[in-house]
Amino acid sequence: MNRIAVLVSGFGSNLQAIIDAVEGGRLPDVELALVVSNRRDAYGIKRAVRHGIPVIYFPLAPYTRSGGTREEYDADLAGIVESFDVTWVVMAGWMHVWSDAFLSRFPSRVINLHPALPGEFPGTDAIQRAYRAFQRGEIDRTGVMVHQVPDEAVDAGPVVVKEVVPIRSDDSLEELEERIHRIEHRLLVGAIHQLLCEERESAAGSSL
Ligand code: GAR
Repeated sequence: MNRIAVLVSGFGSNLQAIIDAVEGGRLPDVELALVVSNRRDAYGIKRAVRHGIPVIYFPLAPYTRSGGTREEYDADLAGIVESFDVTWVVMAGWMHVWSDAFLSRFPSRVINLHPALPGEFPGTDAIQRAYRAFQRGEIDRTGVMVHQVPDEAVDAGPVVVKEVVPIRSDDSLEELEERIHRIEHRLLVGAIHQLLCEERESAAGSSL
């Protein structure tokens, strides 16, 4: 069984997509071991509770207030995640950049979802920034990607899956956001499925 931790900071619609896929049998051999939120008011917390998934609220502020470092926060959270026997970490709207203190504990097993194409609009509000670039006539498409998180670079790393999303001339920002979110939900579940299949195949190959 693959035990997955999903990290959220907000609405959690992508967490919900994973929950639905697990409950609907579209991610066989996956167990949602843990949901972590760094924001108390994240709606994703409610989604986890509703589905009986262990959930931890773990904010950075107490560390920074008491002179602690981001590395200490990352290392402590890595310890908590490990204690749930987690094999994969999925950042689904998690707005915190990991230091090596976290990443070194889950090598090649942290993935991130970002609502833009590789190298474009890293950070927050990527859809809004893409839409503004579209209005200025600079782009006519944006996208969605899921990538591995090897280091502290923001929204960058080896791409697992990506999809181009054309921007229509009559798109409102809300319409574009809605379309992107629908694509994200499919792409993120597909990326998890793909990674687990690849891992199974390489394990089968190495045991021949
Ligand atoms: C998603 O659009 C995700 O791609 C984005 O946060 C949103 C979370 O939505 N992540 C980033 O921008 C990472 N830089 P959700 O809480 O409804 O899943």
